[in-house]
Amino acid sequence: MSMERVAQDGLVLLGCGKMGSAMLAGWLKGGLPASSVWVLDPNPSDWLRGTGVHINAGVPDAPAVALIAVKPQMMGDALPTMAALGNSKTVFLSVAAGTAITTFEGALGAQSPIIRAMPNTPAAIGRGITAIVGNAHATDADMNMADALLSAVGQVVRLEGEGQMDAVTALSGSGPAYVFHLIETLAQAGEAEGLPADLALALAKATVGGAGQLAEDADEDPSQLRINVTSPGGTTQAALEVLTNDTEGFPALIRRAVKAAADRSRELANG
Ligand SMILES: NC(=O)c1ccc[n+]([C@@H]2O[C@H](COP(=O)([O-])OP(=O)(O)OC[C@H]3O[C@@H](n4cnc5c(N)ncnc54)[C@H](OP(=O)(O)O)[C@@H]3O)[C@@H](O)[C@H]2O)c1
Repeated sequence: MSMERVAQDGLVLLGCGKMGSAMLAGWLKGGLPASSVWVLDPNPSDWLRGTGVHINAGVPDAPAVALIAVKPQMMGDALPTMAALGNSKTVFLSVAAGTAITTFEGALGAQSPIIRAMPNTPAAIGRGITAIVGNAHATDADMNMADALLSAVGQVVRLEGEGQMDAVTALSGSGPAYVFHLIETLAQAGEAEGLPADLALALAKATVGGAGQLAEDADEDPSQLRINVTSPGGTTQAALEVLTNDTEGFPALIRRAVKAAADRSRELANG
C-alpha cells in the first residue's frame, strides 16, 4: 500500500550520493518503477544514468515523498529547490545527520509532514538499521510509507521523540566506524602475536562479521553468547578480564566514545 502511493504519485530524491544510491538501488530492486523517481543531483553517476529514472528533469506537482539525502552543509543550497512542495501532502523524509526537524519546517513550511531518519552505512548491502521520527503533521500513513521506503535497505525502528536522535546517531549512525576500528585493532593485535598481516585481517573480519550475525540470529542475548564461549580459566576468560576492567576496559571506553559522538551531534544540531 505504502509503496503503491510512492509508485503512483512519485518520489523525488534530492542528492544521489552513497546513501541516496543505496536506497534507490533497493527501491528499484523491490519493484518501484524507474518512471516514478525524479532525482536531483549536480553530478549524476554512470550507475544512476543507467537506471532509467528522471534525472534533473524537474519534479512532479505533488509527489508522495521528497527524500533529502544531501550533506548537511549543502542543505541551505538544496532545500529552496523543494520549497514549492511545502505545506502540502508531500512527505519530506531526511536522512541528513544533525539537521533538526525545525530547520526543515523553517525552510519548507511549518505545515509540511516531515520525517527525520538516521540510517547507517550497512544500508549499502541491505543490512542497515534506520531510526525514524516524524513531526506533528506526519500521519501514521506517512510513517508507514517512510518505513516501507527505508526497509529497502535494512531494518527500521521508530523513536519516541527527536531527542533520542543524538544517541541513535552516536550508536548506530556512527557505530559502523567503531566496528571497523575494532577489526583493524584486532588484526594489528594478531600481527603482534606473530601472524602475517593478510591472515590476521581475514581472521578479524570473519570473526566480527560472523559474531555479529550470530548475535542477530541467536535466541540467547549477547551476554549469554559470551558466557557460552568463556571456559573458566581459559583463553577467552584471560582476554575478558582485560576487556571488562572497570576503568580501562570496553564498558568505560565505549561509554566515553558514544558520549563524545552524542555530544558532538548535539553541538552540530545547535549550529
Ligand atoms: N553515508 C552514511 O553512512 C550516512 C549515514 C547516516 C546519514 N547519512 C546522511 O546522508 C546524507 C548523504 O550522505 P552521503 O554519504 O550519501 O553523501 P554524498 O555521497 O556526498 O551524497 C550527497 C549527494 O548530494 C549531491 N548534492 C550536493 N548538493 C546538491 C544540491 N544542491 N542538490 C542536489 N544534490 C546535491 C552531491 O553531489 P556532489 O558530490 O557533486 O556534491 C552528492 O551526490 C548526509 O546528510 C548524511 O548525513 C549518511
